[in-house]
Amino acid sequence: MNAMPQFPIYRHRRMRMKESLRRLVRETHLGADQFVMPYFVRPGFGVKEVIESMPGQYRFSTDTLLQELDELQQAGIGSVLLFGVPEESDKSPGAESAWQKNGVVQKAVHEIKRHFPDLLVITDVCLCAYTSHGHCGFINERGEVDNDSSLKALAEMALSHAEAGADLVAPSDMMDGRIQAIRKRLDESALTNTPILSYSAKYASAFYGPFRDAAHSAPSSAGGQSVPEDRKSYQMDPANRLEALREIEADLCEGADMVMVKPALAYLDIIREAKTAFNFPLAAYAVSGEYAMVKTAVQNGLANEKKMVMEMMTSLARAGSDVLITYHAKQIGLWNQESKGKLLNAVRL
Ligand code: PBG
Repeated sequence: MNAMPQFPIYRHRRMRMKESLRRLVRETHLGADQFVMPYFVRPGFGVKEVIESMPGQYRFSTDTLLQELDELQQAGIGSVLLFGVPEESDKSPGAESAWQKNGVVQKAVHEIKRHFPDLLVITDVCLCAYTSHGHCGFINERGEVDNDSSLKALAEMALSHAEAGADLVAPSDMMDGRIQAIRKRLDESALTNTPILSYSAKYASAFYGPFRDAAHSAPSSAGGQSVPEDRKSYQMDPANRLEALREIEADLCEGADMVMVKPALAYLDIIREAKTAFNFPLAAYAVSGEYAMVKTAVQNGLANEKKMVMEMMTSLARAGSDVLITYHAKQIGLWNQESKGKLLNAVRL
């Protein structure tokens, strides 16, 4: 860098004096195309259950979700990420309901694609909502979350989602080798064009608390099997940076088309390093705890929701995220309309 011109020749504030000027030299722009809205899908009809831990979010049955997706599209958001919340009675140690043709996610995907063929549907691939113990993989005789036996189930689940019409499958389980297993299973079934979004650098985070309430997926020994109480044997240690790069590299080598860092706000350094190190599309997931923190602050009159959310989203994009997964996505689309398109003004050709 050449020597910086000094004060008073240079004044940093000169270029900040007017909104029009600030807009002209702004370095980071957000676009509606980069947002993904997560949804929780329930079996049944006419269901729209309040999620206590996530104010403003609901568990939908397919029919009510279709109405919601109509609103989402009208708000200018074109991508969704689906999580299945099966009946408690459909959970089992072997998680068989995770890959049934008429399972909760498979049916929802089929209907969504029938009604909204242009909506991009991403499905979360993980066993935790389907196992009776709530872990993302199977439990072996030593009481551990078993890696290799879980891979076949994850591959089967991903295949069933892709066959139902999912545009992208997104494994979030953190078993080693799952991208390879899923890629192979999809390819064998002539689904070579279904891409994989891998939750590659997924940390064992306290920020998932509200989600586990939403998806009924907290690990627990209450189902009769004695299991670990946390996911630390498979999700990453928040203290680790280099390991995140190894995880991402491994997933790309196994065939991931897009990778993710999760959670988002507390991991901006990882997002930046991942974007610098790998020239692949990168997603950041602003998780349930990040959403709930904002909502709680707003409910207590401590923050301006729009300003706080947009600042958070801008930081994720500035750090290097291409794709932003957030429970605020629909709201951001609505705010953008109120601003006549000035909020999300990035044009991508
Ligand atoms: C499933 C899964 C989780 C989240 C996404 N997929 C929960 C977990 O790992 O416990 C968290 C999403 C959120 O908190 O918004 N494994």
